[in-house]
Amino acid sequence: MPSFLDLHTTSPADLRAMIDTARAMKEARAGLPRGTPDADQPLAGRMVALIFEKPSTRTRVSFDVGVRQMGGQTMVLSGKEMQLGHGETIADTARVLSRYVDLIMIRTFEEDTLKEMSDYATVPVINGLTNRTHPCQIMADVMTYEEHRGPIKGKKVVWAGDGNNVCASFLHAAGQFGFDFTFTGPQTLDPEDVWVKFAREKGSTVAIERDPFKAVEGADLIVTDTWVSMHDPESAKERRHNQLRAYQVTQELMNRANPDALFMHCLPAHRNDEVTSEVMDGPASVIFDEAENRLHAQKAVMRWCLGL
Ligand code: CP
Ligand code: NVA
Repeated sequence: MPSFLDLHTTSPADLRAMIDTARAMKEARAGLPRGTPDADQPLAGRMVALIFEKPSTRTRVSFDVGVRQMGGQTMVLSGKEMQLGHGETIADTARVLSRYVDLIMIRTFEEDTLKEMSDYATVPVINGLTNRTHPCQIMADVMTYEEHRGPIKGKKVVWAGDGNNVCASFLHAAGQFGFDFTFTGPQTLDPEDVWVKFAREKGSTVAIERDPFKAVEGADLIVTDTWVSMHDPESAKERRHNQLRAYQVTQELMNRANPDALFMHCLPAHRNDEVTSEVMDGPASVIFDEAENRLHAQKAVMRWCLGL
């Protein structure tokens, strides 16, 4: 059974199928109270472990609710409170958990932890964010763009700010879903070359543009994220803020994009740092649809992992 580790390691056909499933599952639940079980209960009798080595609101709640809607059960585990946080190896943890649960979702620091978990688990493993990538988020983002504006293929997405883990998964999605991508931010915070290369090799146009106002010309979607990620040292904060201030997403910047351009942020946001409240709460913003679609997209990811 496949793991969902990253967008660049999952086939475009499978990713597209998951988006389609997510939309169908969302439509089937339209207007129902949140606690209503899904009619088909695909996860009946299944147990899912949700492991968090970093804080989370959306990932934690959307996975938990999604599993329950599909008829399964969850256990939410804090890495610190597990033996994992006290010296037990990832490999041993993976082999033990595989005797109890049907699926493992892990949010962790090092990508190697995720890899080791999936290498040794005999059940599928889902990447709930690492220092390098955040694939579940971008599945929800692609779904959200397409709900509002139709196919994302051929569109221009602009990332403003830090070329971080969420930006990396956007570059993977550019390659896999066929959209163009422009990064605008300081050179020291550029996305990793290897991810830029991936998207280009898949046929996407990827541009790096230091001037944010030039970058957003012709943009269909503008995206940003926190200037300081959970894995960044607190000591980086002041320097990051100074480096990134010019890349704040303002209404003035939004006005330079295409008239129907959308704004996205994975959240949590730092209002009036990376984006103004005016933009977050403005007509182009689809941030809460993105948050909702984490639920639907991840339900489709879990079904794919379990072949359901
Ligand atoms: N966007 C996202 O992953 O949010 P959480 O950190 O709250 O899970
Ligand atoms: N880049 C952020 C995303 C949070 C969902 C972080 O890693 O902290």
